[in-house]
Amino acid sequence: MLRVLVMVSGGGTNLQAIIDAVNSRQITNTEIVGVISNNRSAYALERAEHHGIPACCVSPKDYENREVFNEKLLEKVDEYDPDLIALAGFLVVIPPAMIEKYRNRIINIHPSLIPSFCGTGYYGLKVHEAALARGVKVVGATVHFVDEGTDTGPIILQKAVAVEDGDTPEVLQRRVMEQAEWIILPKAIDLIANGKVNVTDGKVSVAK
Ligand code: GRF
Repeated sequence: MLRVLVMVSGGGTNLQAIIDAVNSRQITNTEIVGVISNNRSAYALERAEHHGIPACCVSPKDYENREVFNEKLLEKVDEYDPDLIALAGFLVVIPPAMIEKYRNRIINIHPSLIPSFCGTGYYGLKVHEAALARGVKVVGATVHFVDEGTDTGPIILQKAVAVEDGDTPEVLQRRVMEQAEWIILPKAIDLIANGKVNVTDGKVSVAK
């Protein structure tokens, strides 16, 4: 049984997609063992409580500096003893010590087709604003392993979504969530839970 810890910062729709996929058995061999948020007002925490999933907040605001926060965050992560950590809209930089300790066991959902519209400063609506400003016709989402860079780790799954005439950033964001994020993040967890994902020389292979 894969022990999955989900890390969140906001509304938690990706967390909800994971919860629903476990409950409907779209994801097998998996238990969501906990939810950690850096934001104590994140609705994602309410979603976790509603489903009886242990949840807590570790906020940088509660510590004198980032170094202490990083230590406390890793301590809290370790308490859940996760096999896999899923960043579902988690907007805090992952401490290098945590990346090292959980190498190729931390995954992230990014709302673009990496390497487009990613890296420092590209998160949430900003991604979709940039895509519309560039005039691309296809966008999408990416699930990737987390390494020391920003959105630079080995890519696991991607899913394309069409841009439509008149799209606003908000409308496009919602379509990317519905048609891509909420599908490929649960799918990636199920593949990992069933031993179908392998990383060799920084490239991911997915067994059929
Ligand atoms: C999503 O747009 C996701 O792509 C990005 O942050 C947002 C999180 O949304 N990483 P939610 O908290 O899962 O609703």
